[in-house]
Amino acid sequence: MREPGRLVLLGHPVSQSLSPRFQNAALIDAGLPLRYEAIDVEPSRFEAVLGDLRAEGVAGNVTVPFKERTHDACDRLTLLAERVGAVNVFWVDADGQLIGDNSDVGGFDATARTLLGDIPRDLSVGVLGAGGAAAGVLAAVEQWPGCVAHVYNRTPERARQLAERFGTFAQPVDDIGVVAGADLVVNATSVGLRDDALPIDPALIPRGARVIDLVYKRGETRFVHALRARGIRACDGLEMLIEQGALAFERWFGIAPNRAVMWEAVRR
Ligand code: ATR
Repeated sequence: MREPGRLVLLGHPVSQSLSPRFQNAALIDAGLPLRYEAIDVEPSRFEAVLGDLRAEGVAGNVTVPFKERTHDACDRLTLLAERVGAVNVFWVDADGQLIGDNSDVGGFDATARTLLGDIPRDLSVGVLGAGGAAAGVLAAVEQWPGCVAHVYNRTPERARQLAERFGTFAQPVDDIGVVAGADLVVNATSVGLRDDALPIDPALIPRGARVIDLVYKRGETRFVHALRARGIRACDGLEMLIEQGALAFERWFGIAPNRAVMWEAVRR
């Protein structure tokens, strides 16, 4: 690949993103003379902007709402990006080809390992949501030995389509109680992102379950607080955010960033 001369985050909106903070801390720590900048892209101009960045040899991340459109715009995809149908990391290779990858899956996988304290195996996983984030969760669960996933979504047809794309380990369900009764429950909806709404009534979730809320907020989400109040082990999406960023950094530079420095930058 070609060493990037610039690093960007493309999204709409992006001003609230923590990525510039921890990526810039990692760049300084690694002695790399680059800045990581967030660019708020007007949706109607997205493909044109990405085309200009490709010509410049820029690398970066993509966030909501452009992950699927980047998947469609790349010249080549990694197997994982193809599987998920979404790209959150891109770079330009030596031939000028735009390459798309997905490090959200690795970020989710790392979060699950931290929460469970082990390699996830023989679990039932309840997934709330059926968009790109839920697809990333299924791509991780599919790698875990002996695990099954139940997918519940407000729009049931999307849950059916997503589960079908992944095959028999994933089943769509119309009863949210099935998801609530899983060993590991994952909120992959956007509920709680803009307000304090809860994706599922915490009282439905048994105390022995573990819960990952992919939403993150300063001071953690109301969902995570409500679960902990019931004695349920839960975490939000902050580790996933940092880990996907760390994995992206490895793709761009071929070296691991200092993750402790990244964590310190978001905690400041
Ligand atoms: P992403 O790529 O981040 O997953 P998305 O594709 O827009 O984003 O998916 C958002 C998910 O949150 C969907 O599963 C959506 O449900 P619908 O498919 O029914 O739209 C879910 N979602 C968003 N707002 C919701 C709400 N208020 N209640 C329940 N689910 C909601």
